[in-house]
Amino acid sequence: MSSQPNSAAKVTVRKLLQMKADKEKIVCLTAYDVSFAKLLDAAGVDVVLVGDSLGMVMQGLDNTLAVTMDDMVYHSRCVAKGLERALLMVDMPFMSHITPQIALQNAGRLMKESAAHIVKLEGGSEQQEVVTALTSNGIPVCAHLGLQPQRVHKLGGYRVQGREADRAERMLKEASILEQAGADVLLLECVPAALATKITEAVSIPVIGIGAGTDVDGQILVLQDILGITPGRAPKFSKDFMQGADSIQTAIQNYVDAVKARTFPQQEHIF
Ligand code: KIV
Repeated sequence: MSSQPNSAAKVTVRKLLQMKADKEKIVCLTAYDVSFAKLLDAAGVDVVLVGDSLGMVMQGLDNTLAVTMDDMVYHSRCVAKGLERALLMVDMPFMSHITPQIALQNAGRLMKESAAHIVKLEGGSEQQEVVTALTSNGIPVCAHLGLQPQRVHKLGGYRVQGREADRAERMLKEASILEQAGADVLLLECVPAALATKITEAVSIPVIGIGAGTDVDGQILVLQDILGITPGRAPKFSKDFMQGADSIQTAIQNYVDAVKARTFPQQEHIF
């Protein structure tokens, strides 16, 4: 059964906490323009992320490193125009949060110039002071752990993170440190399902997963991946929802319904 999103109240950071408590899955998806933002909102997507993945899917770049604050402001402003219900999350691009002061200026731009409701930033415990500076100044934060695409050159590629016991232990600790620093939401990318489950149980904030198993509080994918239009091989954790759908709106609705009903992800999408 499909949800009836636009009659429902706006999604807030508080509501995400309540959804975790109620064990209602949080559905998230990326968008970069107003037309798709409207489709996602109408389908009942709870959180729309303007990801710095726009470097790849909108700009044809090899990675996210060259995405600028101006790019993020521009695309978020476009997406904000299309949302009535969903929470608007916006990525802080590479090097935009290297000190609390720089982070405050840049996150402030996203809130003021593009109506973001929450910002997302990649990083572990080294981001503690940044997270505290932002959240204590009224800017909600989603902390992004696991695979951090902005570190692709340091990592030597896009690979699953936290497979080794010491790395898993460290990620669990970092999740707690970021929660204590004030993070409102946690995102785990490409993390073994068992570790993601442990982290989800250990923190009281909602945990959104991409390639992080079934037991996280919500799921996120890149819009182009679920529409089957990403060039090359699709990531293991994604699914082409256009298969068997007669329209883009139906594909998006099928994704929303599958996450809510816990029929996505399946074993084949999990590490
Ligand atoms: O940039 C992005 O789209 C993201 C998602 C993959 C979570 O960070």
